[in-house]
Amino acid sequence: MGNNQTIKNKKLANWVDEVSKLTTPDTIHVCDGSKDEYDSMIKIMLDQKIAKKLDQKKRSNCYLFRSDPSDVARVENRTYIASRSKEDAGPTNNWIDPEELKKTMRGLYSGCMKGRTMYVIPFSMGPVGSPIAKIGVEITDSPYVVVNMHIMTRVGSRVLEILGEDGDFIPCLHSVGKPLAKGENDNGMWPCAPLDKKYISHFPDDLAIWSYGSGYGGNALLGKKCLALRIASVAARNEGWLAEHMLILGITSPTGEKKYIAAAFPSACGKTNLAMLIPAIPGWKVECIGDDISWMKFGKDGRLYAINPEAGFFGVAPGTSMQSNFNAMKAIEKNTIFTNVALTEDGDVWWEGIGYPAPGKLIDWTGKEWEAGKSASLAAHANARFTAPARQCPAIDPAWEDPNGVPISAFLFGGRRPGTVPLVHQSFDWDHGVFMGSIVGSEVTAAALDLKAGTVRRDPFAMLPFCGYHMGDYFKHWIDIGKKSSPEKLPKIFYVNWFRKNDKGEWLWPGYGENSRVLKWVFERCNGEGRSVETSIGHMPTLDAIDRSGLEGVSDDYMKELLKVDKNGWLKEIELIKEHYAAFGSKLPRELKDQLAALEERLSRQHG
Ligand code: OXD
Ligand code: MN
Repeated sequence: MGNNQTIKNKKLANWVDEVSKLTTPDTIHVCDGSKDEYDSMIKIMLDQKIAKKLDQKKRSNCYLFRSDPSDVARVENRTYIASRSKEDAGPTNNWIDPEELKKTMRGLYSGCMKGRTMYVIPFSMGPVGSPIAKIGVEITDSPYVVVNMHIMTRVGSRVLEILGEDGDFIPCLHSVGKPLAKGENDNGMWPCAPLDKKYISHFPDDLAIWSYGSGYGGNALLGKKCLALRIASVAARNEGWLAEHMLILGITSPTGEKKYIAAAFPSACGKTNLAMLIPAIPGWKVECIGDDISWMKFGKDGRLYAINPEAGFFGVAPGTSMQSNFNAMKAIEKNTIFTNVALTEDGDVWWEGIGYPAPGKLIDWTGKEWEAGKSASLAAHANARFTAPARQCPAIDPAWEDPNGVPISAFLFGGRRPGTVPLVHQSFDWDHGVFMGSIVGSEVTAAALDLKAGTVRRDPFAMLPFCGYHMGDYFKHWIDIGKKSSPEKLPKIFYVNWFRKNDKGEWLWPGYGENSRVLKWVFERCNGEGRSVETSIGHMPTLDAIDRSGLEGVSDDYMKELLKVDKNGWLKEIELIKEHYAAFGSKLPRELKDQLAALEERLSRQHG
């Protein structure tokens, strides 16, 4: 066990000392990332009735957790970018003066770990020692966080060794905000604080994270959204690289040529499904590097190289089935943590969209009995999750842990857009591609607690909840990245939309494995091939350019609709983009204003 590990790093030793004096835990445990440690955390939570062991024949080494109903998703209205100047946080982030926020939070942290163990988790985001990786240390009072961090990041003694005495790390402080009285234990109750006491705070000027009151997902596993996106985006801007909310996949053609594609979609648009897709077109292969986050730096050859900073998948369970994502279903057969899914009578998991009816009575995610056809509520929470090691994915790419990363040939942007936006279009150049990223929008779903489902929100680069600084400066950073290399070495940029509907509300495109047909065109375009026409919104496939061999249900008429430039729809879109852009004021880069004007001009010249 890691208890006896000594901390040689001076900054870390001081910080641990300072935090333990403030939070007054009963004991301190420095994590070593071992299997013994994982097992002992699970045992603690089994004893406290926080964890439930699943049937070991069906789900070997798998456990179920049920969170408090008030603690089931990221809380964006309690998430703060506390930069010294309010201007730096920009119009899309919540801001509180950092000194004031620290004062409030110190008050909350004071004595908050009483009756609990304080865990010190040294972790690497990215392969340990990779030139693109970064080291963080999370202090937490949650053994649930420890086991999830074991899966989602690289935890352990090797990280401490790399830190040495003087190495630097990103401090990530977390507490569930539920101290225990003497002799008290959680006794089946998920510990957390009420919503108005929850704070997910980022201090970009010190590159530090303080989180209080939530034990769930992105609020508590601080390596993910907090470090790898919000704080890393700030570091990336300062240092000239990219930290993005992107999946990374490798795609191999029937002749054996391989390319890597990174794709940004807002939460709950099927990123995990696309990252692990099984191509419907024969001879093509897709492999997964990561399903959520991409860190990219320029290599000596002028190309962008990407790593997945994570080591696991924290995927949305509902909707995941053998049909929608075979590889994810295989990845979660063992060594997986399930949170807020339903439990079957024989000790397995179930959720809406798992691909088969609920087998008999269930226990729903709130712990109550549930019967199909009788119970009105969902058996699994819409944002129920699995936490599974990436290496268990049958489609994991052989290069997924390459410390140098993989060269990216294309970026895809997309969202859920029932109308206007075609199946795929390609940007004319880099700046036009940045424009495409800046206007990403999607219908809202359940990954964030405090948004109304069903409405469309702009989510530039799918980074709206994850950009740690002014979004206008972020756009500028993307424009500047395009100046660091030559156009033929930069990734080509595409906008895709799997979610088009006709006026009867029917899907025009089947999605899932069939999306490989669009990836094939993207692949061809990266080689300067692929039939295309120049339109007012970008390069688009000709009607016969998307391979439809063996595809049923997408008629020529559907294809025409999918690849139509809807002049009126786009003219309306332009007005909405103007409103969206207005929020960025003088920080909106001139290049994007020019792109918008040029699009308007091209559309006005278009007939019909
Ligand atoms: C996620 C999200 O959980 O984007 O990955 O919300
Ligand atoms: Mn995400």
